[in-house]
Amino acid sequence: MDAPFQTVDRSAPVPPVADRLKPYLADLDRPVGEAVGLPSWIYFDPAVFEAERKTIFSKVWIGIAYESDVAEPGDVATADYAGWRFIVTRAEDGEVRVFYNLCRHRGMAVLDGPRHQQRTLSCPWHMWSYDLKGRLIGTPNIGGTGVHTTPGIERGELGLVPVRTGRWMGVIFVNIDGKAPPLAEYLKPTTDRLRAFDLSLARESDERFETHFAGNWKLAIEGGVEDYHIPFVHKQLGPSGDFTGEGCDTYVGIACRRSMDIAAVRYAATDAPKEGAPLPLFPHFAGGGSAEASVILSTLPATLVAAVTDHVVVSIFIPESPERTRVRRRFRFVGDAATDAAHAAARRRMRDAWAVVTDQDGPIIERMQLQAPLRDEVGTRPRFSPYWEPAVHHFQKVIAARLTEAA
Ligand code: FES
Ligand SMILES: [Fe+2]
Repeated sequence: MDAPFQTVDRSAPVPPVADRLKPYLADLDRPVGEAVGLPSWIYFDPAVFEAERKTIFSKVWIGIAYESDVAEPGDVATADYAGWRFIVTRAEDGEVRVFYNLCRHRGMAVLDGPRHQQRTLSCPWHMWSYDLKGRLIGTPNIGGTGVHTTPGIERGELGLVPVRTGRWMGVIFVNIDGKAPPLAEYLKPTTDRLRAFDLSLARESDERFETHFAGNWKLAIEGGVEDYHIPFVHKQLGPSGDFTGEGCDTYVGIACRRSMDIAAVRYAATDAPKEGAPLPLFPHFAGGGSAEASVILSTLPATLVAAVTDHVVVSIFIPESPERTRVRRRFRFVGDAATDAAHAAARRRMRDAWAVVTDQDGPIIERMQLQAPLRDEVGTRPRFSPYWEPAVHHFQKVIAARLTEAA
């Protein structure tokens, strides 16, 4: 009798992730309408997560935190990402610095959360202390009670280990292996694609929110770069307009041209009373008619900028484990509308509208995560709508290329 479904032989030795993926590349590389997507074990296998750490996360610029996490000199914060633990500081000189959260004595995590008005960081185990520039400045009792120095322990050599750091749109990026091109160069395809929007006008507001998904980070990105599900999952949002999905080596994304009428429905869709002044538009959209109303780009691996008629949402998706992702969002608005009292109600409505959408996506992603082992056992793989899902297809190609390229 034929087997009712294709089973996976879990007793066989498991080859490296790159070797396991290679047989799927030819199907994936076909035109989007004919392509067959990647196997579902990429969403739950710890070996894939480890491979992503080595071949993706450590090699590119990862968005780990916001500058506003350390808004004032003396602010410090922790930032965790896929098993790495970082400390972010803003010292008296105003500079943002990132270090591994790793004491140079015996390796304790120095910091356990955000603090303000700090001059030093003290390790909780034996109280070695560091200034906010990472320099080791105190080794109490190292030579015996009351003796704070000892031969061989050179403070000048034992500062916190710094991480290469860059900033854009309020996001603090790090490059772990130190070999990525400069941040501006890495982001250039993204910033070029966003050129219609004058992002110099987009100022950060206090509007923000954070959540978690019990799902793999790639599911979150794939859900964010297609509009196919919008009328079914986000029924409150209006039509998509002229939709395109696109991508390159460093970003995937979607864009829509819309008339002002359609854009107003899509992005102001809450039942909240329309109190306060309406948000000002980006200049390229202020003339009316149809224009590029939204460009939503996820820069590899998972920093997502959504530039829309009158706001920008800057989101970082933080892979915490193969099956858990933290989502942080910060909202920017045009000029003074980011901070003035007249637009406070409109800012809040926009934040709330995005929170509703995010909360609608969460259960879908979590249910997809639960499906992944079943998809693996049965042996089904994704198919793509050529109209709606070229960016999802492209994302899978980029991930597969990174995971299979020579280590
Ligand atoms: S491990 Fe930090 S002071 Fe000992
Ligand atoms: Fe969605």
